Amino acid sequence: MSESASQVAEKQEVSLFDVRAFRNALGAFPTGVAIITTAGADGRPIGLTCNSFSSVSLEPPLVSWGLRINSKSLEAFRSAGAFAINILAEDQKDLSNRFASGQIADKFEGVAWRAGHRGLPIIEDCVATFECDKFAEHLAGDHVLFLGQVAKFDHGRHEDSLVFYKGAYMMLTQSLRELASRGRMEPQNLDQARRLVNCMLLRLACENGVDEDFDAIEHNILQIEQLVAPEEREQRAEASLEFFRLITRAAHNEVLVVVSETLTNIMRQILKADSSLRYRPDLVPVRKQILSHLRRRDADAAEAAMSHYFDEMRRGTVANQTSTAAP
Ligand SMILES: Cc1cc2nc3c(=O)[nH]c(=O)nc-3n(C[C@H](O)[C@H](O)[C@H](O)COP(=O)(O)O)c2cc1C
Repeated sequence: MSESASQVAEKQEVSLFDVRAFRNALGAFPTGVAIITTAGADGRPIGLTCNSFSSVSLEPPLVSWGLRINSKSLEAFRSAGAFAINILAEDQKDLSNRFASGQIADKFEGVAWRAGHRGLPIIEDCVATFECDKFAEHLAGDHVLFLGQVAKFDHGRHEDSLVFYKGAYMMLTQSLRELASRGRMEPQNLDQARRLVNCMLLRLACENGVDEDFDAIEHNILQIEQLVAPEEREQRAEASLEFFRLITRAAHNEVLVVVSETLTNIMRQILKADSSLRYRPDLVPVRKQILSHLRRRDADAAEAAMSHYFDEMRRGTVANQTSTAAP
């Protein structure tokens, strides 16, 4: 059967759509993590990890979540008249991985749970649970969207929730934030960690960076140079942090992106709290040196310039105890 022109056009449009980039963009929205459970026709507990949970309505109390149509659990959720949402705490990452695995025959083995509303499996020790009667279900592309009316809920533990962000759990960020808030994060340790990570990233950027990466860094340096006024303090701090983000991007290593972003976020919190941040014209030539070594793919020289940058930053901070250098 021949395809119509519009079908062909539609297919082309779909293949032009970069699914991976789309997923990455969606990952920019941090979510919690839940295990959605139901009871199978034989009473067996069924569950899977989900981050598509969302609140929908307060009156009546409605929530929603989406399930992949090729999930092994699809039929069970379609036939069931109810489901439960078990919101995970920060220390329940293992449970999240267990219920996201397609390899485990009995996901509930060794997991503490009890039967709740309509026999729904309720996982113990969660931050909150919502026991729902199915309100509606809609086929939506490659997912089925389930809407539930909350019959019962419980906000049990008051621990921090597990957070999923950019394809990973945010425990590292949360742990570091906790260290900072308890005053256990020494500035020298943070400085050392940033210095080491950025030197490593520069080496990788020399290997993996492409012209567009280096052009973006150049553009950023020009931007920083223009932000000299005292009232541009915040934009200057943000642009300076962007310099490090662009180096991270040029390294093309997704694991280090997470580590580096975390350190940058902490640095951002510190800078936000510092109202005396001043312009550091002396750092401009050092940034330019780093870039020129990058373009020549001279990793040793780039690393030396980065070390020099951090030395200068520290010197500036020590020289003027009342002000902090822009990073
Ligand atoms: C953090 C996280 C969130 C997830 N969110 C969803 C989701 O919203 N919908 C979905 O269908 N699968 C989601 N998954 C994948 C399922 O948990 C995984 O495919 C699971 O094995 C499905 O269960 P099944 O083996 O019964 O098909 C998620 C996985 C993780 C790690």
